[in-house]
Amino acid sequence: MQMMLSGLEEFENQESQVRSYVRRFPAVFSKAQGSELWDTHAKRYIDFFCGAGTLNYGHNNPHAKAALLEYIYRDGIQHSLDTATEAKAEFLAALNDLILAPRGLEYRVQFPGPTGTNAVEAACKLARKKTQRSHIVAFTRAYHGHSLGALALTANSYYHDEHYGSHNNVSHLPFDGYMDGLDSGDLLRRMLSDPSSGIPKPAAVILETVQGEGGIRVASKQWLRAVADVCKQQGVLLIVDDIQVGNGRTGPFFSFEESGIEPDIVCLSKSLGGGLPLAIVLVRPDVDVWKPGQHTGTFRGNNLAFVAATALLEYWRDDSLQKRTLKLHEVIVRRLKRLAASFPDVHAEVRGRGLIIGLDLRSGELANRVIESCFAQGLLLEASGAEDEVLKIMPALTISPELLVEGLRILESAVTHVLGNLLDSKRLASGAQEQDQVFVRESRAADCQVAKNVSPILSGADFSDNHIWASMASPFQSPFQN
Ligand SMILES: Cc1ncc(COP(=O)(O)O)c(C=O)c1O
Repeated sequence: MQMMLSGLEEFENQESQVRSYVRRFPAVFSKAQGSELWDTHAKRYIDFFCGAGTLNYGHNNPHAKAALLEYIYRDGIQHSLDTATEAKAEFLAALNDLILAPRGLEYRVQFPGPTGTNAVEAACKLARKKTQRSHIVAFTRAYHGHSLGALALTANSYYHDEHYGSHNNVSHLPFDGYMDGLDSGDLLRRMLSDPSSGIPKPAAVILETVQGEGGIRVASKQWLRAVADVCKQQGVLLIVDDIQVGNGRTGPFFSFEESGIEPDIVCLSKSLGGGLPLAIVLVRPDVDVWKPGQHTGTFRGNNLAFVAATALLEYWRDDSLQKRTLKLHEVIVRRLKRLAASFPDVHAEVRGRGLIIGLDLRSGELANRVIESCFAQGLLLEASGAEDEVLKIMPALTISPELLVEGLRILESAVTHVLGNLLDSKRLASGAQEQDQVFVRESRAADCQVAKNVSPILSGADFSDNHIWASMASPFQSPFQN
């Protein structure tokens, strides 16, 4: 039966009220490549949303796609529970060789269910089992997922209902910068060392180094070190939830690298599988106290996602992606700060690290109108924060300079349009144009150099008798195509 996907009626009639992003982006999407998507009316969108941090390497990344096509074509194993497969072996080897060993990190890898919340559940259960304590400390504005254990850690009251009984065994303490003048690292130290603080000695402290859903709140290196110190002193495990801001989103592969801390447990998911569901929990070997099968499930190890992840980890063979991310960060922040300065009454603030950058408009209503205007002009972006007041600028790490500039111009025009500041819109556009051209030219040249390093990844693959492959244009000219 041919489905007529002309509008959103099918979704409105059949899908649960719980649907959300479809309300934000009311289109039926049919195709995506790199940082662009198209809907069923052939309208094209630039993606600054990136599946909430799942598409760091862009949609249908050519390296992952080539590896997947080859794997499916040769009937590679798809489902395997946690039996040993070639795809899993290759993923584990790549994770160790390209990520863990070069950083001097020694972790066991646990495969929970394939979503972020599954990783958080597994991490918390393991911390409780290892320490034989049940309490966990999380932070204000934290977001760790929606299954009941993870939901208990998620702070925003919108997601809670007293009947879920979901705040058991969790206390929330202030995140870095939560209150002016408060040293929340010191407060944590006091609360955990004082037997009369009212907080039972916890099994673990869990944190995001940048709170993505919480409104792009960045923890300082000092604060992260202070928290890690307290945990060590108190014999409490430190869990870093790197689900949204790991996989290079802040620049380095892990978001905590620059702080020098070494968490006991790390949760990773989202971009790891390049858009295919995959989550892992990295566990310090002495913390890995599971007995065989004590935390199990059917989809623990998605072989297609292993294949994609193995191909994508090749980006980490050198530091070019990291350097590029940091460079693009500067370009975006410079422009957003100029934009924010052009409407001082709003007191907008620019925050972020790498390619997770927030423009805090202090008003959910304003942010919502900007997002609607961006959507109408063909740019996808989301908001976060308690009132959805922070615009979340999150392009793929592989976005081309041309699309980045095009997306930023749409954003600038939407913001100035919504704030009724059309005069500044013209001034911003004319001032930016020349800089844009220089940026695009320089970035293109740098990307060509990187392409030379990344392109040979799959040079060993033989697609000669693969008719699917033969019909496709070579995608390997540049890892940062669009
Ligand atoms: C930091 C963090 N932890 C956990 C999750 C939950 O991941 P999932 O939606 O895949 O369950 C998210 C999702 O946005 C997240 O940002």
